[in-house]
Amino acid sequence: MKIAVFVSGGGTNLQAIIDKIASGEITNVEISEVIASNESAFAIERAKKAGIPAKVISKKVLGAEAYDDATLAELNGLGVELVVLAGFLSMLGPKTVAAYANRIINIHPALIPAFCGQGMYGIRPHEAVLAKGVKVSGATVHFVNEHYDEGPIILQKAVDVLPDDTPETLQKRIMKECEQVILPQAIQLIADGRIEVVNNLVRVKP
Ligand code: GAR
Repeated sequence: MKIAVFVSGGGTNLQAIIDKIASGEITNVEISEVIASNESAFAIERAKKAGIPAKVISKKVLGAEAYDDATLAELNGLGVELVVLAGFLSMLGPKTVAAYANRIINIHPALIPAFCGQGMYGIRPHEAVLAKGVKVSGATVHFVNEHYDEGPIILQKAVDVLPDDTPETLQKRIMKECEQVILPQAIQLIADGRIEVVNNLVRVKP
């Protein structure tokens, strides 16, 4: 299965996918291209180091409509079957989302439907989790629809929030123990044809 990976920053989720393909923990999956929202994303270096083509498509530079057209043309040209948003801090345009319905997945650093939606990205969900005093948090992989963080949920994984956590320690633990585990898992389940969406809910076939 050919995939494209969209990134905006450090690229630890991208690295987890690269490493698991290399080690054989993910099978029958090939990253055709890494597409960054900005030139300074360190994820681009990770792609290059792994010999994966990388390019920047910037909504800021192109404007919203041209950005939508450019991403859609790029994905169609690559012929990818799955689009993975791995630390992608922007939003794809409506044409791209419609054309790839139930073929775009996103990793969100909280347990949806809590601590998600517009503006809840990066460190912010972890700050909100600690401000609220909830005792568990985690990560969610979900399909992307036209609303922020609202598509069908594929996988979730939780960790305890510890009394002395800071947003940074919680973020780090969730990235390592949740995100980097369930994002590769979801990709493999999709590659294996085990994910079905029925009435807007995900069913994992045995
Ligand atoms: C990750 O925690 C990811 O879940 C989050 O940004 C971070 C990027 O890390 N994504 C979102 O907040 C999307 N709404 P990475 O670039 O090292 O993978």
